[in-house]
Amino acid sequence: MKLRVAVLYGGRSGEHEISLRSAESIIAAMDPQRFEVQRIFITKEGRWEPRAISPEPGANPGIDVVFPVLHGTFGEDGTVQGLLELADLPYVGAGVLGSAVAMDKEVTKRLLRERGLPVAEFIVLTRGAYNLEDICSRLPFPMFVKPANLGSSVGISKVKTCEELAPALKFAEEFDRKILVERGITGREFECAVLGNRDPIAAIPCEILPSREFYDYEDKYILGTSKTVLPADLTPEQTREMQNLAIACYQAVQCEGMARVDFLLETASGKFYINEPNTIPGFTSISMYPKMWEAAGLPYAELISRLIDLALERHAERKATRFHR
Ligand SMILES: Nc1ncnc2c1ncn2[C@@H]1O[C@H](COP(=O)(O)OP(=O)(O)O)[C@@H](O)[C@H]1O
Ligand SMILES: [Mg+2]
Repeated sequence: MKLRVAVLYGGRSGEHEISLRSAESIIAAMDPQRFEVQRIFITKEGRWEPRAISPEPGANPGIDVVFPVLHGTFGEDGTVQGLLELADLPYVGAGVLGSAVAMDKEVTKRLLRERGLPVAEFIVLTRGAYNLEDICSRLPFPMFVKPANLGSSVGISKVKTCEELAPALKFAEEFDRKILVERGITGREFECAVLGNRDPIAAIPCEILPSREFYDYEDKYILGTSKTVLPADLTPEQTREMQNLAIACYQAVQCEGMARVDFLLETASGKFYINEPNTIPGFTSISMYPKMWEAAGLPYAELISRLIDLALERHAERKATRFHR
C-alpha cells in the first residue's frame, strides 16, 4: 500500500507564495510508486482547505505522514508541529522545540554561543526601550538590525552610521517587540544543507552572491539577480569546517529531519560565523537545499523519500517513550 503523505502548504506567513512554489516542486518530485499525495492548502487567513486534485478510485482516506511546507510564522515556528504532535501524526522536519528555537534569532544565538560556536556579537532590545548612543558605542559599524522572529530578510536593515540606527530600529519594531542588533560581518555568504535525526550529515555547501548591499527580500525573491555557486569555492579544509559547524549548529538547536544552516565568512579574519539555521528551507525549483543534496549525490526524489522516512523513524521512536508511570 502506498504511504499517504499530506503536504501542508500556503499558510499565514509573509512567505505564503514561496510556500506554494516549494510545495509544487516537492509534490512533483515525490515517487508516485511509493506515495499518494494529499494537498492541504492553508489560506492567508489561516483556513485549511483540503485540495483533492484527482482522488484515485478507491483512494484511501486518512494520513500516514505530514510534510509541512510552510515557511516562517505559523508553520516553521513550532505551532503546526505542536498541532501534529497532538494529532499523533508523523511529520517531516524539526519538532516543536527545534522549530521554535530556530525561529527566534536571540535564543538560537545564545544556544550556539553556549556551545562555543561562532556567532556575530549582538545586542537584544525591546521595542521602545533603548538608548541610541549606548548601542552605537557597543558595536562597530556596519551593524545589522533585525526583528527577532521573522524570515526572508523582512524588517532587516544594514546600518553604517549612528544616524541610520533610529530609522532601522523603528522599521524592525514594526515586525517584532524584540529586536537584534548584530555586528555586521564583512565577507562572503554561504549555505550548507543538513539531513538526519540522530546522526545528521551535511551536504556540499554553496555560496550566495547577493546582487545588493546584502541578501535582502528583493534579492531573494523579486530581482532574481543574486547568484549561487555550487559547490562553493572553498578549500577542502574550509568545506569540512563549515560542514562540521553546520552539524554542530543543527544539534545545538535540536533540529531533526532537515535544516539549511547559513554562514558568513569574514574576509579580514578568515573566520566562519553561523548566521542562522532554517528548519523548513526553500524547496522551489531554484532553492539551494535540494540542489546541495544533488551535488552531494542524493537526487531530489530520494531526498524527499529520506525526509519522510526520518519523520516515520522519529515518530516510531517517540512511541517507544513512556509518558506516564
Ligand atoms: N551579522 C551580519 N553580518 C553580515 N550580513 C548579515 C548579518 N546578518 C544578516 N546579514 C545579511 O542579511 C541577510 C538576512 O539576514 P538573516 O539573519 O539571515 O535573516 P532572515 O531570517 O530574514 O533570512 C543575510 O542573508 C545576510 O545577507
Ligand atoms: Mg537568512
